[in-house]
Order: sequence, then structure tokens, then C-alpha cells
Amino acid sequence: MRILSGIQPSGFLHLGNFFGMMQRGIRWQEKGEVFFFIADFHALTTLGDPEALRRNVREAALAFLACGLDPKRAVFFRQSAVPEVLELSWLLSTVTPIGLLERCHSYKDKLAKGIAPTHALFAYPVLMAADILLYRADLVPVGTDQKQHLEVTRDLAVKFNQTFGPVFVVPKEDIDEGLATIPGIDGQKMSKSYGNTLELFGDREEFRRRVMAIRTDSTPVGEPKPVAGSVLVSLYRLVSEPQELEEFISSMRRGGVGYAPLKKELLSKLERFLAPFRERYEELRAKPQLVDEVLEEGARSARAAAAPTWELARRAVGLL
Ligand code: TRP
Repeated sequence: MRILSGIQPSGFLHLGNFFGMMQRGIRWQEKGEVFFFIADFHALTTLGDPEALRRNVREAALAFLACGLDPKRAVFFRQSAVPEVLELSWLLSTVTPIGLLERCHSYKDKLAKGIAPTHALFAYPVLMAADILLYRADLVPVGTDQKQHLEVTRDLAVKFNQTFGPVFVVPKEDIDEGLATIPGIDGQKMSKSYGNTLELFGDREEFRRRVMAIRTDSTPVGEPKPVAGSVLVSLYRLVSEPQELEEFISSMRRGGVGYAPLKKELLSKLERFLAPFRERYEELRAKPQLVDEVLEEGARSARAAAAPTWELARRAVGLL
């Protein structure tokens, strides 16, 4: 079974990225053939800053390796290292109804945020389909926000196969529906665009400051604290043992403990959880050529894996 996923290089990765997709994707490397890539072509749809793109690609590579992606088991590469994907994207666009793209929430959301409606932004899901189909992925671990893009991918694969013959594997998404949304420090979904993230590998002092700034209510110290909907509890749950969680919750229910000590307790568990990843991150950061080598080796493997499907697709449409 082949598992594939991509992440846009958009700066420092945060706890929402980690629990939403990275951890689950990385776990798959125990069970199947994993392809992971940094979607730098996709990043160009919203980022107009070449230096930032270079920095963010490096950051995403470091973060994935630090979080346990094992280049001996997984193929890890930059999307743009296999430019054949753009050719495939073009072939797919010949069977893509405009209406299908016009219905994409992610496109509409981006316009609502004031991002310029370029052709690349509109065609984003077609390139994403090409990513998935080029490598014949069976399963695609993604966050719930990408569900519609996977539907588009399946539609295009089926349509292409019907038009030109059986070329593509029709993939399935791997979405953890049970996973509660990871809240940011203001209680909304943790997202870079809300400015409410807790970064995995950013400045440690800033991390502490942000944990201490998590939004809580104004229950007096002596009173029991509400547990349902508490950001503290949602985050604590992710990084603690069941017994620790039980104690944390009962100290909230008992009352007599203010929010500041509760936040300090959460902070200590977050830091305990992140410590091994942060250590590995610092080690890797000191060896930039190692990261480059991993990506180069990954690009070679990815290109080789893509070649048969690319040729099949070119032949199917009559380019060969
Ligand atoms: N659109 C995805 C995101 O923003 C990133 C991505 C690009 C992707 N190509 C992909 C994910 C292919 C899975 C498979 O999260």
C-alpha cells in the first residue's frame, strides 16, 4: 500500500499541524510505503517572497525529520524536484470542469481572506490531484479541511480513466474524524491565519508566554473551573498520560487552584512532550547538508516512482 501526503511550507509548524497530520502520516511509515513532500509549487499560490519560500522549505524539512520521519523508510522530497507533476496537472486540467473548481471551499475561503484570485490559486486542486495520481497513492492522510480536494482528485482520476483508459489509481483519504479540532490559544481552531498557534520549534520564551496567555474565563480561584470546552484540557489531553489528565481535571473541578498554576502545569507537559523533537531539531539544524542530501535522495526515488505513470499518461493522451 502506498501512502502519500504533502504539506505547504508556510513557516514554523505548530501543534495543530503536528496532531492534525504530521504524526499520523509519520506513523504510516511502520506499515506501508510512505511518500511525503513539501508542496513548494502550491506555496507559490499565496507567497510572493522568494527568501521566505527558501526559508520555509528548509523549516518544513527540518520539522518533519525532527518529528520522526525516517528517510530510510519514507521517500521525502520537494514537490518541485519532480516537475513532471506540472505536466500531469495540465493533462488533468483538460478533463476538469470549471464548475468543480468553482465549488471548492478552500478557494472561496482564500478569496474571502483577500488573496488575489489568480489562475494558480484556482487550479490548486488540479495540481494536488496530480501530486496524488502521479505517485499512484492508495491512501492520503490529510486534515478535514482537505476532504473536498480528495473528492476532486477522485473525480478527475475517474474521468481521465473513462476518457483515455485505465491510467490512474483512484485514492482514498485517511481522515481522523474522531480527532477533535486542536484549539489555539484563543479557543478557535489552531491556525496560522488566526495568529493563535503554539509553534513546535519557535522561540522557547515566546512559547511560554503564549501558553500563559491561553484564554480562560474569569472563574475565581476558589471556585470549580469548567472542564467542557476548556482549551487547557484539550491541549493537556494531547500530551499527558491518562492518570495525569485525570488529576488535572479533578484539580479543576475541585476549585482552589487558579488558572496560572494550571497553565504552568500544562506548559511543563507540553515541554516534556516536545523535548525529544526539539533536541533532534537542533541536531539537524547544525547539519544543513544532511537535510539537503535527504531531499536529493528523496527526489531521485520520487522521480523514479513517478516515471511509469507519467509515461502511461502521456501515451494515453497521444503525446507518445
Ligand atoms: N493542500 C494541502 C494542504 O494545504 C497540501 C498538499 C498539496 C497535499 N498537495 C497534496 C496534501 C497532496 C496531500 C496530498 O494541506
